[in-house]
Amino acid sequence: MMTAALVENDPITATVGLGDRAYDIAIGRGLLSSLGRRIAELKPGAKAAIVTDANVARHYLAHCEAALRAAGIPAVHVIVPAGESSKSVASFEHVCDALIEARVERGDVVVALGGGVVGDLAGFAAASVRRGLDFVQVPTSLLAQVDSSVGGKTGINSRYGKNLIGAFHQPRLVVADTALLDTLPPRQFRAGYAEVAKHGLLGDADYFAWLEANWKDVFSGAPARGTGVAPREYAILKSVQIKAAIVARDEREIGDRALLNLGHTFGHAFEAAAGFSDRLLHGEAVAIGIACAFDFSARRGLLPKAEAERAIRHLAAVGLPTHIRDVPAVTTNADALMELVAQDKKVKRGKLTFILVRGIGASFVARDVDPDEVRAFLAEKLARA
Ligand SMILES: NC(=O)c1ccc[n+]([C@@H]2O[C@H](COP(=O)([O-])OP(=O)(O)OC[C@H]3O[C@@H](n4cnc5c(N)ncnc54)[C@H](O)[C@@H]3O)[C@@H](O)[C@H]2O)c1
Ligand SMILES: [Zn+2]
Repeated sequence: MMTAALVENDPITATVGLGDRAYDIAIGRGLLSSLGRRIAELKPGAKAAIVTDANVARHYLAHCEAALRAAGIPAVHVIVPAGESSKSVASFEHVCDALIEARVERGDVVVALGGGVVGDLAGFAAASVRRGLDFVQVPTSLLAQVDSSVGGKTGINSRYGKNLIGAFHQPRLVVADTALLDTLPPRQFRAGYAEVAKHGLLGDADYFAWLEANWKDVFSGAPARGTGVAPREYAILKSVQIKAAIVARDEREIGDRALLNLGHTFGHAFEAAAGFSDRLLHGEAVAIGIACAFDFSARRGLLPKAEAERAIRHLAAVGLPTHIRDVPAVTTNADALMELVAQDKKVKRGKLTFILVRGIGASFVARDVDPDEVRAFLAEKLARA
């Protein structure tokens, strides 16, 4: 490849290889300005409906509308409140009504401008209205840029639990403008970083070692050294490539797409225990969950204790919580946590499925985990609090 394509401000592109539904993920600083041109190339004559939340609208809605206008794309918008509570049936109805009122048709496009909440909500509305509208993800949080905007899982929460109502609906394009992350609150950036580390830990030891050495530059958005890709953009690219490769192999999570859930079975239980609130962000719960998965695997003798400690040490180094006791909100007993684990994952023939590890970068799907073993592990963790 020519070095010109690697200059800091030029976009880098990953592809999700799903045959005739394949799509590009463009990554780079300032890419929001190119959104209109990219949509016009993909869908000439389309009009757009932007779905966003109140925080993101304040920062970027005008910029997004200007980018569409510049390419001659008429746009309407719908704004939902910021936060997980917008992944509700009520917000879903609100967004669907707005799309229908605006006469958004098959030839048009829904633009999800926001974090994972907006992406999941707008994506599900796009999957549903007129039995499927094209949509474009413009992820604005780190979590959304490295994880939720890629792979086509869309949905909302039910009163019975997270993400229980939804659909697989792949976007036509993902535009990840890394400059937008400059306004993301640091705690949100750190929480998104848990998914970045997860991608290395589940399948790429070299990438994890790179993160250990370069995470400060990823956080600060430091410029590229020489003609290479800048660290933040590199981390987003690597994460997306790891996720995209898994999604291309197993779009519907019949097999190893489940590896992307490393840390999530434990993590969802902690999130539920904290009432899915700001007391514990998704990424923070995942960080504790990953630490649990490594610790639990080491206790089973699957990897040396020191290697598990190395994984956990990195999460702690960036400021993520790694112990249940780091989160005062999760002061529940092992039995209550086990209830929540069992709710998240169906118990099959008395066994639980967990993503465990044989080392850094070597995760696997373990379908034989005894609930009593998990309960004892959690009890011990809580007892040491
Ligand atoms: N579909 C998937 O595959 C998938 C994967 C992982 C997570 N998720 C979902 O993603 C959601 C979490 O996503 P999230 O962490 O992005 O949360 P979020 O969408 O709530 O965004 C976090 C906060 O940051 C604000 N924000 C976003 N971008 C900003 C910016 N550039 N500047 C300033 N503020 C900004 C938002 O308004 C919000 O307050 C969860 O609902 C989770 O279930 C989905
Ligand atoms: Zn996650």
